[in-house]
Amino acid sequence: MELITTYICKEFDLGIHNNMFGGRIMSLLDDAAGSYASQLCDTPRMLTIKVDELTFKKAVKVGSILKIYGRVVKFGNTSLQLYMEMRKHNVYTGEQEIVTSTNMTFVRIDEEGNAITISERVKLRYNDRLKNFGKGLLNTEETSKEKERNTLI
Ligand SMILES: CC(C)(COP(=O)(O)OP(=O)(O)OC[C@H]1O[C@@H](n2cnc3c(N)ncnc32)[C@H](O)[C@@H]1OP(=O)(O)O)[C@@H](O)C(=O)NCCC(=O)NCCS
Repeated sequence: MELITTYICKEFDLGIHNNMFGGRIMSLLDDAAGSYASQLCDTPRMLTIKVDELTFKKAVKVGSILKIYGRVVKFGNTSLQLYMEMRKHNVYTGEQEIVTSTNMTFVRIDEEGNAITISERVKLRYNDRLKNFGKGLLNTEETSKEKERNTLI
């Protein structure tokens, strides 16, 4: 699992029970998963086609630090299935509790909105990065190392 984004719950994120609104949680997950899918596949054109079941296991209050993690479940021909997890992070202990988790599927599209193939290079690169760096998204230094190793960029 790799960290994709961190968010602090604000007052305007709350619903009528003073917990973070469920729709807001789903939106944050979709944002994180969509941007993760786009970065992995080198394209901004990734559409959410399916979100699996979600259970809201823990309430989120104002000030909670939320961390969203993800990993690839599988690449298809035009689709990419991700496992996504949102956790509450305790700054005092470093402990994390799962707020919710689900699988989300994205489809790569062309300019007309039609599904198109995700390249083999993208799939091989993800596996290569997972093996060498333990994650699919690299920082600048890691990207340089990857280039030096002359692998699949
Ligand atoms: C995404 C979209 C272009 C796919 O078009 P389509 O003609 O249905 O394409 P296909 O039937 O060929 O399916 C494309 C891929 O999605 C997968 N897919 C289709 N229905 C699915 C479902 N219910 N669950 C999981 N995957 C599904 C297919 O298996 C295929 O994957 P593969 O190529 O890896 O095997 C079209 O459904 C669409 O525009 N949906 C709206 C998306 C949207 O607006 N999302 C919200 C905003 S991002």
